[in-house]
Amino acid sequence: MKKLLYQFDTDAQPAVFDNVVAYDGGADHVTAYGGVTPGKVGALVDGAIFTRSPKEKKFTAIFVGGSDMAQGEALFAAVRQRFFAGFRVSVMLDSNGSNTTAAAGVASLAHSAPGGSLAGRRAVVLAGTGPVGQRAALLLAREGARVALTSRSLGRAQQVVRTLAERCAVEVEAIEAVDNAARTRAIEGAQIVFAAGAAGVNLLDAAAWQDAPTLELLCDANATPPPGIAGIDPMDKAAARHGKTVWGAIGFGALKIALHRACIAQLFESNERVLDAEEIYAIAKTMVG
Ligand SMILES: NC(=O)c1ccc[n+]([C@@H]2O[C@H](COP(=O)([O-])OP(=O)(O)OC[C@H]3O[C@@H](n4cnc5c(N)ncnc54)[C@H](OP(=O)(O)O)[C@@H]3O)[C@@H](O)[C@H]2O)c1
Repeated sequence: MKKLLYQFDTDAQPAVFDNVVAYDGGADHVTAYGGVTPGKVGALVDGAIFTRSPKEKKFTAIFVGGSDMAQGEALFAAVRQRFFAGFRVSVMLDSNGSNTTAAAGVASLAHSAPGGSLAGRRAVVLAGTGPVGQRAALLLAREGARVALTSRSLGRAQQVVRTLAERCAVEVEAIEAVDNAARTRAIEGAQIVFAAGAAGVNLLDAAAWQDAPTLELLCDANATPPPGIAGIDPMDKAAARHGKTVWGAIGFGALKIALHRACIAQLFESNERVLDAEEIYAIAKTMVG
């Protein structure tokens, strides 16, 4: 029985990255659809759930991706709403690599934290309004950290914080921070910084964190030069710098790729897996270190 993965992308062009990792995760065949919306997904889901016998259904799975987190969440919900009784297949959400990237970054931070826990620490997600930042804020909060996220726009930060409260019941503080000086103020008193800015955007200069007395752990998700946090090398992997432990984008990127592949592999272990942020984070915790 061939392992078939159906890649539903909310963007017009389905992501090649997700397609390649799907094969590397063990799918025998990947079919990618672009421009998939909740209104159009029903027939596609029906094709996946009605074709194979109960025992064979685990050899069919669905992956939801695309660059827009809100659209991805809506499509993910629509896919699951189409399931009933035993008529279901395993499904994973990873819009823009958000869940696998945030899970790998936060699991790496937690693994290298003094005492092995992030609980009780203040964490600031810089530029936390994108897919990766939203998921990082959620997972840091789930780890028991007191979380804030920044945006250049207070309105955008507040919108994300409202969504996190409504959908995930976590409390996150919204901070407007338009430039390096404002972001430096935003991290005052924090122990953890997770930089989740767009590719190639520098958010923080070196002095801002190297001289900050309370900071213990930093993670920069941006692998495209210049770094999101100046002074962190993308290859840094729990590197000790200026008395802090730092992770660069490539440093935790190996876990991110391994995690994404492991999630794909798990989709084919049963027809009931639902992999979103928390489930993917639980898998990351078993792989880190
Ligand atoms: N290491 C890995 O394995 C891995 C995997 C996937 C992705 N990534 C990286 O993770 C990062 C986050 O990904 P994403 O998809 O969540 O990012 P994104 O949506 O492209 O951007 C995140 C946020 O960056 C802010 N931003 C955009 N342009 C900016 C500018 N010029 N100055 C300051 N802030 C700016 C925006 O926030 P506001 O407009 O609200 O300020 C935006 O919401 C990216 O760098 C991506 O390349 C890494």
